[in-house]
Amino acid sequence: MVTVHPISEILGARIEGLDLSERLDASQSQCLADALHRHGFIVLKNQSLTAAQMVTFAKGWGRPSPHVIDTFHHPEDANILILSNVFKQGKPTGLVDAGTYFHTDYSYLDDVARCTILHAQDVPAAPNGTTFANQAKAYADLPSGMKEKIKHLVVKHHYGNRDDLNQQSRSVASVLNPDQAKKVNWVRHPLVRKHPFSGQAALYAVSGSAFGIEGMDDEEALALLRELSAHATQEAYCYTNNYENGDVIVWDNALLLHSAPLIDLTRPRTLWRVTVLNPLGV
Ligand SMILES: [Fe+2]
Repeated sequence: MVTVHPISEILGARIEGLDLSERLDASQSQCLADALHRHGFIVLKNQSLTAAQMVTFAKGWGRPSPHVIDTFHHPEDANILILSNVFKQGKPTGLVDAGTYFHTDYSYLDDVARCTILHAQDVPAAPNGTTFANQAKAYADLPSGMKEKIKHLVVKHHYGNRDDLNQQSRSVASVLNPDQAKKVNWVRHPLVRKHPFSGQAALYAVSGSAFGIEGMDDEEALALLRELSAHATQEAYCYTNNYENGDVIVWDNALLLHSAPLIDLTRPRTLWRVTVLNPLGV
């Protein structure tokens, strides 16, 4: 039997009773989806998935979409991005830092991500976790005047971290090579977005890829985005989830901002990641 155990009042649930290497039936999949939309992220402990099994699980959520950084795709399946600080024969085996600032995965694309799935392969002892911020609660707590002001605004997004463009910094967005850079363009998304499944309103990607607002000069737009970002990443909306080997975590990109840890480069850390778009028609 599948059971759902909330991790904190603000975010997160642990799911027990499932082996993800086996195909899920419809009621199990629905239970996971309901838990994700309610709690923002779900964790399943002690899993051991092959690359193919991880991608099969991911396809249950929607359409896996390979990351623009194609340098570190898993050799058995390009839908998996390897996050790792391990070097072999002097070469990196994965992407070392992946979003060490608050952002939303794929908010720089037209087709935004439904969820991101990580499978911890080899992680050091805690603290090693991702910090998540609940953007539905952050939106709900805004003063009514601010809600009125932002309700129809459209944000201009581009790949990158608007608050750190220094390519030598570890909180810059992972640097693209010229071919990869050609694949990303300016896109637009509503500032307040209704959740595609629950209908709940949330601030969408106010940190990270948000560089401007349609119809507003850039200085005013950046000031507003930074004000919203500061509000939306307050400790009251955040929870940090630490990883253990075998963890599978799924987070809801329509509901959360997240920030990856600045990891200790001397301690091996490898995770697999798949990012999933909404199913067609959603
Ligand atoms: Fe991310």
